[in-house]
Amino acid sequence: MNILITGGTGFIGRHLISDFLSRSPDIDFTVLTRKKAKQVSWLFPGIPPGKLQIINDTGELHDRHPDIMIHLAGAPVFSMLPFFENTAELTNSRTGYTAKLLTRLAAAGILPDTIIMAGSTGIYPPNQIPCPEETPSGNSFPAMLAKNWENAAAGTLEELRQSGIISKIPRLVTMRFSTVMGKSGGFLKPFLIAKGQPVIIPGNGNNMLSWISIPDTMEIAWNLVRVWRNFSGSINLAVPVPLSLNEICHDIAELNRAICTVHLPETPLKIVKPKTAAFLLLSNTARPDALTRLGYCFRYENFREYLKTII
Ligand SMILES: NC(=O)c1ccc[n+]([C@@H]2O[C@H](COP(=O)([O-])OP(=O)(O)OC[C@H]3O[C@@H](n4cnc5c(N)ncnc54)[C@H](OP(=O)(O)O)[C@@H]3O)[C@@H](O)[C@H]2O)c1
Repeated sequence: MNILITGGTGFIGRHLISDFLSRSPDIDFTVLTRKKAKQVSWLFPGIPPGKLQIINDTGELHDRHPDIMIHLAGAPVFSMLPFFENTAELTNSRTGYTAKLLTRLAAAGILPDTIIMAGSTGIYPPNQIPCPEETPSGNSFPAMLAKNWENAAAGTLEELRQSGIISKIPRLVTMRFSTVMGKSGGFLKPFLIAKGQPVIIPGNGNNMLSWISIPDTMEIAWNLVRVWRNFSGSINLAVPVPLSLNEICHDIAELNRAICTVHLPETPLKIVKPKTAAFLLLSNTARPDALTRLGYCFRYENFREYLKTII
């Protein structure tokens, strides 16, 4: 089985490649990246060259037809530069890039039958009560970004079908990630870079956050590829019970032996980075209804217990 992956050089993508390759000898990956192969091959230590091909353009697939596409590419939501918010890049790298990629693959006759893409639980309106998948989307910046991304994929596929370029719509799954917790990237990484450093909590920290561990993320992605083959649509990747940002940050501080926690006031954050503030300060929670219906049992539901395994 050949899996074409975008965002394979990122936090979730790197885990996914090594996890899937360790599970099955009949899988190989083609990583579609903006970077040169020699710049990124070090990210995949120990993977036999035949199992991983790195390409910069879909043209390099030649007539090699991927069976599945896992589409994770998207510009990072956070930038440390003050007053800089790459909103156009955030949008284009998701909606524009998705439409272009699907159109190119379809035109070359190599659009896979299954497309599993990243999405975000940020699609829901700000909430304290976790939202199931059928909740109507919100209108905050994170919600519009996530919604437009999902619509770009579904809309492009429908246009391709209507124009006769493809005869049927592929199976389309959106993994709506909540905050994915792992040591080597995403939310947790900056907190774990040095033991004992202060933990900075944006705002008052009372906002609620859903999360999911890397091992559960990998297990669910694997099931979507190999087990739940009839599932299509959106699926929330979130543990059943969310936590407040304060609870999360205090657990991190305690286990990482941080010297203190510091609250970053909301108002300057909203002035300096209004879009970023929307991601950091809103309550964003999701209920894993689709996973419950599929009978999924989480490996980690307790944040503190999970943290102990990685700190
Ligand atoms: N981690 C989370 O907690 C979380 C939560 C919700 C949603 N998500 C979404 O899930 C996806 C994967 O997350 P991640 O944490 O693995 O992200 P990540 O580490 O930032 O990796 C994202 C990948 O996207 C590609 N990319 C970056 N900027 C791009 C641009 N301007 N145009 C096209 N491609 C670009 C990069 O691949 P190349 O450099 O190889 O091209 C990069 O490796 C992302 O789209 C993210 O928004 C993640």
